Amino acid sequence: MSPRSNSCENGPEGALIGADTLVMLAGRRPEHLDGPWSLTLDLFGEGLNQNWAALDEKRPIEWELPRDYDIAGGEIVHVPSCWNVLRPEWRFFEGTGWYTRSFEWQQRRTDERVVLYVGAAAYEARVYLNGYPLGRHRGASTPFCVELTDALETGANRLQIAVNNQRLANRIPPERFDWFNYGGLYREVHLVRLPALFILDATVSLVPDGGRFTLLAEVTLSDPTDGTAHVSIPELDIEIPVPVSAGRGAAVVAVTPALWSPASPKLYRVVTRFGNDLVEDQIGFREIRADGPQLLLNGAPIYLRGICAHEDDVALGKSSTREDVERRFGHARALNCNFLRLTHYPHHENVAKTADERGLLLWEEIPVYWNVDFASDETYRDAENQMQELIRRDRNRASVILWSIGNETPDTVERTHFLSRLADMARHMDPTRLVTAACTLQGGMIKDSVTSSLDVIGINQYFGWYDPDLPGLARFLEHSFPGKPVLISEVGADALAGLRDPSAPLFSEERQAQIYRQQFEMLARASYVCGVSPWLLYDFRSERRQSSVQRGFNRKGLIAEDKNRTKLAFGELARIYQQIGESRP
Ligand code: GCU
Repeated sequence: MSPRSNSCENGPEGALIGADTLVMLAGRRPEHLDGPWSLTLDLFGEGLNQNWAALDEKRPIEWELPRDYDIAGGEIVHVPSCWNVLRPEWRFFEGTGWYTRSFEWQQRRTDERVVLYVGAAAYEARVYLNGYPLGRHRGASTPFCVELTDALETGANRLQIAVNNQRLANRIPPERFDWFNYGGLYREVHLVRLPALFILDATVSLVPDGGRFTLLAEVTLSDPTDGTAHVSIPELDIEIPVPVSAGRGAAVVAVTPALWSPASPKLYRVVTRFGNDLVEDQIGFREIRADGPQLLLNGAPIYLRGICAHEDDVALGKSSTREDVERRFGHARALNCNFLRLTHYPHHENVAKTADERGLLLWEEIPVYWNVDFASDETYRDAENQMQELIRRDRNRASVILWSIGNETPDTVERTHFLSRLADMARHMDPTRLVTAACTLQGGMIKDSVTSSLDVIGINQYFGWYDPDLPGLARFLEHSFPGKPVLISEVGADALAGLRDPSAPLFSEERQAQIYRQQFEMLARASYVCGVSPWLLYDFRSERRQSSVQRGFNRKGLIAEDKNRTKLAFGELARIYQQIGESRP
């Protein structure tokens, strides 16, 4: 972030905000802007046409001319939240929500800079301060920052964020996907006060060279300056001087930390200082590598006993609370899981922080889902930026072992070029993790051309459900040896909670449990399969699902959408994982 990079002269569009201005929050004390905001829903997009951001805050009786927007006169809603769950008439709203609130600012230091940090806004957000356009961000599930300094007033300031959640073919995800299209400022919003020169990003990781005794410290500053940063890990009694040139620096140190693993989720306090700035994080050190068909965690083979999870709640929509995250981890533990596939977009950052503390391994993913506009360079840049923001946000999270660049995308030349660029970028940006994607079989075999760009091949297969030919699973497992780890990234079946019938008809709990049994009788024996993450933990909202047993929900959950009623297959999977956990690493 160069000084005043989001200055007020950006014009009506505002600069495109991206990963390069994302400010690391760890160890800082931000000022929270959560709470009551005014929200006006703008179905016809009049806000940009009529330049609502430039209006004053007079009340209607004080206007000289009529207006269609009353800046502080919207409905008062709590941020963070999804508008879809706040009013029945807002359930399916797809358009722009104009959020407004004011805040007081008094300068505390002469050289102080102030940045707005938004945890997530679904999908495109335009930020205005005191009527100035400061920038716009694309991507519904990653954080972004925009500098407010130049547009701040001493005393009262007016902050507006226009959030658009329309489903468009050139977005990531595109207009069709199998989850609910929530909208709004649905994660936390903060003000961050910073010195003139500050630490933008600081990461410390174990160099993945098989030795596991070399730490790499990397520091990025807000501005292209020289100097020395200092990274200390008190418990290891080390301080690493990191020479910085033109705002970037890196240094290695030989040390043998206690390694992080699901069995021993050891975290170290890591403090990074530069000039007047300091950040600190809790970081676990571990190595994940692929060796032929095996996945090695800290040099030892590991088998991933996983489950997929959406970020969806009947009361909260896509927002998630600490209680909601705790419940997700509680159910994963009860299943004897050591792994979660967070689908199909970046989840709240508390999930990876909790996984670090609890010792659960994670697959994190950006929503390059189904039929993306792979020929569009603008769409590629959107996907690339979402991946970069996710890596910047979670790079210090030991639990994250896999970056996923897509899910069930069609095997075309444009798509494979798009994804291989994304894979190369992710691997270059973060060589300490593996790159994967969820692919589908072709002719019952692994033939997808993108697999050559992946470190771990994810396979979504529904033998026994969408494909009645269950023996096809045996043929696939017996004849596909791609020479690299294969993770069954989806498998499952629908069941309506409470629909019980010993004859196991479709949508009965018995049929779902039966398919789990039949699947794992074969999967557990497949030597090159490094793990499974069945689809999925909870039933979730999806308007594509309108049969009388679905009624707007995808029913493949092992637990109903109330996150309470457990289906027969839950106990089946817990028993299967208990047995696998005892027999495989
Ligand atoms: C696909 C897809 C999921 C979807 C699931 C289903 O594999 O990846 O997003 O919900 O199948 O059909 O239930």
